[in-house]
Amino acid sequence: MEKLIESIDRNRIPAHVAIIMDGNGRWAKSRGLDRSEGHVEGVNTVRRITEIASEIGVGCLTLYAFSTENWNRPQAEVDALMHLIGIAIERETPDLIRNNVRLRMIGDFGRMPEDARKRLQGCFDATSHCTGLVLNLALSYSGRWDIVEAARLLAADAAKGTIAPDDIDGNLLASRLSTASLPQQDPDLLIRTGGDLRVSNFLLWEIAYSEIEVTDKYWPDFSKEDFLQAILNYQKRERRFGKTSEQIAADGTNK
Ligand code: FPP
Repeated sequence: MEKLIESIDRNRIPAHVAIIMDGNGRWAKSRGLDRSEGHVEGVNTVRRITEIASEIGVGCLTLYAFSTENWNRPQAEVDALMHLIGIAIERETPDLIRNNVRLRMIGDFGRMPEDARKRLQGCFDATSHCTGLVLNLALSYSGRWDIVEAARLLAADAAKGTIAPDDIDGNLLASRLSTASLPQQDPDLLIRTGGDLRVSNFLLWEIAYSEIEVTDKYWPDFSKEDFLQAILNYQKRERRFGKTSEQIAADGTNK
């Protein structure tokens, strides 16, 4: 671990890391446990990864904790997950404050159960002064949902006459997404655990140029070392943003 940390280039830490935390159910099944035990173990990984991300100076960590599509899971699993998320957030609040971590969320807050909403709001308020890592939970979130919401906001502005249809460009649309107020909107690095090679309706607009790391490890098994290794792999990549290697070398945009 120490060696891994030392080999990381502190000048090229990704400002925004997003993670699709997958494999809790399979982790539990492989041990003959109930799926919910996988989610409980998954919370421990959330704590670990938040700690290490904060330690190495990541600015924003977005975790896909519950998608719009997850509402279609069996009601008992939905209830258990919502309860778990609320309880975990409340329990971790003092530690978040101690580590200067600010909790935020993207997604349909109004669709969350009242109990979870209260616990989340408590943590948003209690950590609103924290200036270190932003821990951003995607809850009742999907990329398409967010883009539709942004389109609605723009249409309402156009109907009011505060913008003209011709004013709409990529920057204006991005400014209406729920990620607009994060320290950096677009993730530099997207990590997916659990081995599946898909994006699953996560941050569709924002990952246009994100580097992607997929690991076969299930989320409960994902360690601090695995996270650091993903950062190291990211630092070996050349980010071209559609340009040529020569252009990137000349203008120094490879971050
Ligand atoms: C995916 O595993 C995981 C989820 C849908 C939920 C993730 C939630 C947590 C880890 C808890 C989050 C807690 C906090 C405090 C943010 P899966 O059930 O889809 O696994 P499978 O693909 O193996 O079935």
